[in-house]
Amino acid sequence: CGIVGYIGNRDSQNILLEGLKKLEYRGYDSAGVAIHTNTGLALRKTKGRISELENRLQDQPLEGFAGIGHTRWATHGRPSDANSHPHTDNDMKISVVHNGIIENHLQLKEELEAHGYRFISETDTEVLSHLIAHHYDGDLAQAVRKAVSHVRGAYAIAVLSEHEPDKLVAVRWASPLIIGVGQGENFIGSDIPAILEYTRDVYILNDGEMAVLTREGVELMTLEGNFIAKQLFHIDWDLVMAEKNGFDTFMLKEIHEQPRAYEDTMRGRIDEEKQQIVLPGVSLTPEQIREIKQIQMVACGTAYHAALVGKTVVERLTRIPVEVDLASEYRYRMPIIRENTLVIAVSQSGETADTLAAIREAKQWGARVMAITNVVGSSVAREAEDVLFTLAGPEIAVASTKAYSSQLIAFYLLGMFMGQSLGTLDPVTSVEMIAMLERLPFQVEEMLRHQDPIHGIAEHITQQEHLFFIGRGLDYSLAMEASLKLKEISYIHSEAYAAGELKHGSLALIEDGTPVIALATQELLLEKTVSNIKEVKARGAYVIALALEGNTELEKTADQVIYVPRTYSLLTPALAVVPLQLLAYYTAALRGNDVDKPRNLAKSVTVE
Ligand code: G6P
Repeated sequence: CGIVGYIGNRDSQNILLEGLKKLEYRGYDSAGVAIHTNTGLALRKTKGRISELENRLQDQPLEGFAGIGHTRWATHGRPSDANSHPHTDNDMKISVVHNGIIENHLQLKEELEAHGYRFISETDTEVLSHLIAHHYDGDLAQAVRKAVSHVRGAYAIAVLSEHEPDKLVAVRWASPLIIGVGQGENFIGSDIPAILEYTRDVYILNDGEMAVLTREGVELMTLEGNFIAKQLFHIDWDLVMAEKNGFDTFMLKEIHEQPRAYEDTMRGRIDEEKQQIVLPGVSLTPEQIREIKQIQMVACGTAYHAALVGKTVVERLTRIPVEVDLASEYRYRMPIIRENTLVIAVSQSGETADTLAAIREAKQWGARVMAITNVVGSSVAREAEDVLFTLAGPEIAVASTKAYSSQLIAFYLLGMFMGQSLGTLDPVTSVEMIAMLERLPFQVEEMLRHQDPIHGIAEHITQQEHLFFIGRGLDYSLAMEASLKLKEISYIHSEAYAAGELKHGSLALIEDGTPVIALATQELLLEKTVSNIKEVKARGAYVIALALEGNTELEKTADQVIYVPRTYSLLTPALAVVPLQLLAYYTAALRGNDVDKPRNLAKSVTVE
């Protein structure tokens, strides 16, 4: 979900709407605003996209200088008008927008009902508005403080009340929240793009901190009510960076931003003279690296797939054993965290609840946690001891592209950094790898210039109901990401299989015409992969192979071949991913899908 808040001298309706549009990637199944008008608190909310809220506000505008808004991704209660935020108390005096989950909401609801409060939605959030009303005794901030002291769970909350219309109250626990500071106006946002158009100076709230905003200023305090001082954080992002830049969709734009994302992620991290990797955000000393006995990587979704590539890369370059876990599974499997375990959490947003929970588990058992994330100031970044930022810029499309591939770059840098310090990466290979790494952005650019064959293949795939991706080694890890990308935006069912494993069961699904996308970019495994391609071919599969330039013999076995430029074998996924992203993209676009906002999904999932 996404939250915005405004208090100032301008018409709040439009500022809230614009802010919400920038946050739509956080969830978009319903939206709403509450504004303090001259007749009191007024609400407009609706199921559906923000554009629907906009239409409603055009018909029935709300005038006022203070307001809060919300874009929702349903967790408790289906998407509906009633379940949309803001929620209010029964007297319509207090309105609340919330991101997160109130774990004890059922119990609180019972208690509040016993006091005579009536509930009109199925959300967990509604308990907050009644709870604040219940505790209101002439001081809104205090009422909010008292209310949240009864709440268990995760929340970022913004509150607007008719009792004190010149004030907004915001509070954070385990859900991101920032306060934007302007001149004669102040803002609340769950993320930077929401307010970037209006101010570049923000306070990033920590867990257990709250803010009281008036037109003139912002007071920060703890949940105990003690005032605190915080440094303003100045944002040097460009708003254009968060807009489509001439492309039809954010996803296509972000695919095309990969050369720059690679360059930015490498920038300043390669000492050309010494041919050394330098990672300023990583404080691990060579001695500490030498002591690491095992590495555990935790992540979700696309970031998990990046970690699978990361495992191979880091193991090859350091010879330290690496395990990879889905963050949502990690803490429930009682992971064995021995002394000198390094846990690497990978997260584009840095706010994924599952990943944060895994980090906390790991820390509790004494692991050192390193983060690979794209968002400066994010929770993951702040909770980890070391941070390796991917500098991919804001990623808006729900389906991750440049963030994934920048995570691969981060893993190359990290693997080499550790390998150089351990001596497991010899200087000759190291120099070669650096040169190859630096060529990647140019190679991706070149690939993006030659997309035509992919259109044709996408047309073929559009008609299909299910298909397979197969590959060995790094190609298998990449196949998992390629399959996810296709599923999430085209809604075509697909499965990624280790090429050698298909014959142990799932080969039974191959029929005449079943498309099989065979990733064959790992030279050392080529022969074996070709055998597997022949197995599916013999059962009638329609094979689209991904091969290294020059390996034209694949044309004899496969029906179509997409070529990938040559590089150092470990680096190949950073190139091979590009045609696979485009394939998913064009297939989804041909099907007429809303590529940037696939159904049922959200960009940043801040619930477990
Ligand atoms: C959501 C997104 C996925 C993403 C996953 C992990 O489910 O829809 O695209 O891979 O979260 O997100 P993170 O921000 O932690 O990388």
